[in-house]
Amino acid sequence: MTTSAVEPGTGPTPDPAGGRALDGRVAVVTGATGALGRVVAARLAEAGARLVLAGRDEARLREVASDLGLTDDGWLAVTGDLDAAGSASVAKATEATFGAVHIVVHLVGGYAGGTPIAETDPTDLESMIDQHVWTTFHLARAFSEPLSRGGFGRFVAVTSPFGFNPPGRNAAYAAAKAAQQSLVLSLAQEFRGTGATANTILVRTIDAKRERITAPTSANARWTTPEEIAATILWLCRPDAERVNGVALPLFGGPTPG
Ligand SMILES: NC(=O)c1ccc[n+]([C@@H]2O[C@H](COP(=O)([O-])OP(=O)(O)OC[C@H]3O[C@@H](n4cnc5c(N)ncnc54)[C@H](OP(=O)(O)O)[C@@H]3O)[C@@H](O)[C@H]2O)c1
Repeated sequence: MTTSAVEPGTGPTPDPAGGRALDGRVAVVTGATGALGRVVAARLAEAGARLVLAGRDEARLREVASDLGLTDDGWLAVTGDLDAAGSASVAKATEATFGAVHIVVHLVGGYAGGTPIAETDPTDLESMIDQHVWTTFHLARAFSEPLSRGGFGRFVAVTSPFGFNPPGRNAAYAAAKAAQQSLVLSLAQEFRGTGATANTILVRTIDAKRERITAPTSANARWTTPEEIAATILWLCRPDAERVNGVALPLFGGPTPG
């Protein structure tokens, strides 16, 4: 019988290389106030990265930094929308403060859906495209040169299997996630040979309450906890993951999401 000190899907995954794989690296996290963003920010900081938390509300960003015990010299808040100017400001402020940027983990999100296309308000499609596509495009534009300049760069986003296998009643979200996926994988092609990588993780549902483990059902069997996703993001960001570029990595416990 094997035993584990950590309940599956909950705690941080022990790092076989000893924990501080990202010492000296600078990581931008968007959506850091979200369910996944907080956990990812924590793991990046534990691995030694200095953090730039980009979001719309400075008070919420400060709360995250305080919860994580970040020191003033270990993090920076940049507030504003992730439009063209806002994304460029994040890149500029990051380099001005820390002298470099090595990692961008893009975790802005939101969901609109549940209705057939005929009943879907056009503003739902607009909001999904705004959140998932335009933010990714503007960030990729702002960070592709700085990430590929220094021989080490990582760009990671969390997309959805709905992007390539869309169910009904989710057209706006699925279309936006498909476009986000294409943007990141295009960036990966442009990164070839630079030491920078761009990858996506495919998640069916973020299981923030760990119901897959505490109350398993057939419906939550494909869900993934924030800790499991964060461990995978951390792995993609490690220096020894440089050969992983242009991957859409499924994280739903099986070859298919359904
Ligand atoms: N939840 C799921 O089941 C699921 C499934 C597949 C993929 N994903 C993806 O995983 C990532 C994290 O999801 P999550 O569930 O942790 O998200 P979440 O808890 O809903 O948090 C969303 C985050 O995005 C920020 N945000 C939303 N719209 C924004 C905008 N227009 N500009 C800037 N920031 C904005 C929010 O910031 P504020 O503090 O300013 O509101 C918040 O930090 C997202 O990319 C999501 O699409 C999620």
